[in-house]
Amino acid sequence: MSRVTIRPPRPADVPAYKEAVNRSAAHIGLWNPVEPDGLPDLLQRQGPGLRSYLIVDKADGGFVGKCNVSNIVMGRFCNAALGYDSYLPYAGTGRMTEGMRQVVDRCFADQSAGGLGLHRLEINVQPDNARSIALARRLGFRHEGFTPRMLFLDGAWRDHERFALTAEEWQPLGARNQ
Ligand SMILES: CC(C)(COP(=O)(O)OP(=O)(O)OC[C@H]1O[C@@H](n2cnc3c(N)ncnc32)[C@H](O)[C@@H]1OP(=O)(O)O)[C@@H](O)C(=O)NCCC(=O)NCCS
Repeated sequence: MSRVTIRPPRPADVPAYKEAVNRSAAHIGLWNPVEPDGLPDLLQRQGPGLRSYLIVDKADGGFVGKCNVSNIVMGRFCNAALGYDSYLPYAGTGRMTEGMRQVVDRCFADQSAGGLGLHRLEINVQPDNARSIALARRLGFRHEGFTPRMLFLDGAWRDHERFALTAEEWQPLGARNQ
């Protein structure tokens, strides 16, 4: 039984989101921008190309983490990229992995069932980001290749390792013991 649920963020989450990101700035800032005041803008940008999910602890309602499903392209591609951060005090307890399984499941589920109807997901990780690479592998993502100078982060174009998963490789959560 999973310890977390996922849901889209909403305006009432702004104060708790800010606290969670501030609490977690030290580990987020190693790899991602730290944007405690970023939720209003993120809410405004939600649309066909971007869906965000908060991972929420079932026991106390705290924010375990956030995942952005971005660069969503439908048509013949049905592809998106996952970007994520986990928050203290839940980081490193396995809850982020549980939440990300639910995000992946939602991404691959049919739109008729409330999913995004995607076929392929990418996770792009800087080569030394061992925790994120471990998370991608735990989710079953395959290493596809190396993308030089892919993203502009912390003042420079950063190389990334590219991981991917297609729907054929994913066993829906409803069909397995969670
Ligand atoms: C990458 C990141 C999201 C991983 O999140 P996390 O909080 O470590 O995720 P989890 O807690 O699910 O990870 C499982 C870890 O908890 C441990 N753990 C503890 N209790 C556990 C339990 N009951 N079940 C499963 N795992 C458990 C696991 O051993 C594992 O540790 P390990 O990776 O050292 O083996 C987080 O480190 C982060 O926010 N990093 C900064 C931003 C970032 O890099 N984003 C991604 C950019 S590509």
